[in-house]
Amino acid sequence: MSSNTVSQTPSELVRDNIRNLKAYQPGKPIEEVEREIGITGAIKLASNENPLGPSPLAIEAAAKTIGDSHLYPDGAAYYLRRDLADMHGIDPERLVFGSGCNEVIQMLISAFCVPGRDQVLSHKYAFISYRLQTLAHDCEFVEADVTENLGCDVDALLAKVTEKTRLIFVANPNNPTGAHLDRKSLEKLLANVPSHAIVVIDEAYHEYADVADDDYPKSQDYAQDRPLLVTLRTFSKIYGLAGMRVGYGICSKEVADFLNRLRRPFNVNLIGQEAARAALADSAHVARSAELARSGIAKFRSVAPELGVVAYPSLGNFLLIDVKRPAQEVYDGLLRRGVIVRPMAVWGLATHLRISIGTEEQTERCIGALRSVLS
Ligand SMILES: Cc1ncc(COP(=O)(O)O)c(C=O)c1O
Repeated sequence: MSSNTVSQTPSELVRDNIRNLKAYQPGKPIEEVEREIGITGAIKLASNENPLGPSPLAIEAAAKTIGDSHLYPDGAAYYLRRDLADMHGIDPERLVFGSGCNEVIQMLISAFCVPGRDQVLSHKYAFISYRLQTLAHDCEFVEADVTENLGCDVDALLAKVTEKTRLIFVANPNNPTGAHLDRKSLEKLLANVPSHAIVVIDEAYHEYADVADDDYPKSQDYAQDRPLLVTLRTFSKIYGLAGMRVGYGICSKEVADFLNRLRRPFNVNLIGQEAARAALADSAHVARSAELARSGIAKFRSVAPELGVVAYPSLGNFLLIDVKRPAQEVYDGLLRRGVIVRPMAVWGLATHLRISIGTEEQTERCIGALRSVLS
């Protein structure tokens, strides 16, 4: 190397789309808040986790498996695949596993979108990963306008479809808004999307929604009519296994085959696979978790008028509130009281907070803290 070579900085070397990217901001960890504010006993209602934790059956299965941690997991996740295929009544080859369904989102974009050419479509206030992963892949992210409830407006979404649209992401219900597509809206979407675009219905909160609303559709009921349909599911929410990182996609065998070509080897860990299988078997835990979320949302919505906030309807395990003032102040006030929620400014919602539903006790504490901050 010649002596006058000027060394280049990473900032000069990195791809433009990565230089301009803002990293995903997760909810603040409890320990960090306690350290910063000098308190103990803080509660985190910021990441839509299950406050009941994993099923005891999943904990037992994880404990049994940990002694085999020197072994690579089964990359094809044979037993988990079989259990899920039975549960959904589908061919096991239609499943693709990810380290959380975040990874399946990434695989879909990598497999189907040509950088610098294709577009990924969703709507305003959609799950933020769709945007981040599209931009990381150097594709254009297109956002449609939303309904009054900040939900997906199918007509507005369809109006944004172009020849470059390869993937359309709709979370049902959506995070952070809690809004959902009803049966008629989903049918309209699926019937009108042109065949060059793959529709991805992200059902990370499916089990909560299924209990809450009779008009909430299951996207796989339409798989026969639309082969280019992918459904996303996860063990991170109602199954209480966010720390295990297990998610999956349900799609056609052909799509699954392509995604599996770029799936990292052993992407779903050994303990996660076994914990997920055990969690599936504990339907009582799932029912309890759904009921807790329902009653927590109802509680927040019933006290909202008295608190002077607007609480949006939600079919998830969280809800969005509009505090009608800069939400950062309210967020900071809640933090000082040891309650961690999620400010929505990164979504462009400067007066909104998202609150994950905790235990009954945590819900009471959060409402009390809100009352004190807002008064
Ligand atoms: C709508 C939605 N989709 C997908 C995910 C990703 O879940 P995971 O990667 O933990 O499976 C989340 C997590 O918050 C979500 O809210």
